[in-house]
Amino acid sequence: MTPLLELINVDARYGPFRALFDVSLSIQPGAVMALLGPNGSGKTTLARVASGLVRPSAGTVRFDGTDFSGSETYEFARTGIFHAVEGRSIFATLSVDENLELALGRGRSRTEVSEAKDVAYALFPRLAERRNQIAGTLSGGEQRMLSLARVLAEQPRLLIADELSLGLAPIIVDSVYETLAHIRDAGTTLLIVEQHVGHALAIADEAVVLAKGSVKYAGAAEGAAAYSTI
Ligand SMILES: Nc1ncnc2c1ncn2[C@@H]1O[C@H](COP(=O)(O)OP(=O)(O)OP(=O)(O)O)[C@@H](O)[C@H]1O
Ligand SMILES: [Mg+2]
Repeated sequence: MTPLLELINVDARYGPFRALFDVSLSIQPGAVMALLGPNGSGKTTLARVASGLVRPSAGTVRFDGTDFSGSETYEFARTGIFHAVEGRSIFATLSVDENLELALGRGRSRTEVSEAKDVAYALFPRLAERRNQIAGTLSGGEQRMLSLARVLAEQPRLLIADELSLGLAPIIVDSVYETLAHIRDAGTTLLIVEQHVGHALAIADEAVVLAKGSVKYAGAAEGAAAYSTI
């Protein structure tokens, strides 16, 4: 099967600083990959390369078999890649309900929007209780739920989730992971960048462990724990 995302011998630089060295990985459609490694090892850089935010200085990025190595960020976005970063993807001055309307509105009828909102609220009762609250005043965990509810609604082909559980209480982390499982079950391929190794490996099929910008381990999720020292 053609991998959904493929990085082949990728290098990435920030000016003179080299952040990734000869990194290769491939994710099959429908799979969940955990991307692990200590602080500064290049996880976020790899996530940025995969979503077109950083252009590789060498190597190839393929999405669904097409070469995107020299492409612009918007061309990556058009393929159905969604890069979720903490606190980024909500409109702080709009209500919870308005945020969902915006996310769900594209290409749907009024009735379909209403049905899709019901699905989101059923998954996130806390958001239902706060549907009229201004999103910027939600707690950190609630904001994360809202951004995940939006991702779930958009049904991207590939979700890149960079440290979505950072700074959240354990019980909220559990619900973030339950939501990621729903997103996977709805057919989205996942690349999960994570410090919570246990959580990430529990949901992942495969794992890549980075160290100082190079791949230290690539293979089955079960085998990664021994390589990841964080
Ligand atoms: N915009 C930038 N300009 C210059 N250097 C950068 C930039 N972004 C990241 N780096 C450097 O690249 C290296 C890899 O950073 P990256 O953010 O990819 O690591 P990470 O594995 O995501 O770390 P963390 O676990 O702390 O989030 C680090 O040494 C970092 O300082
Ligand atoms: Mg990072």
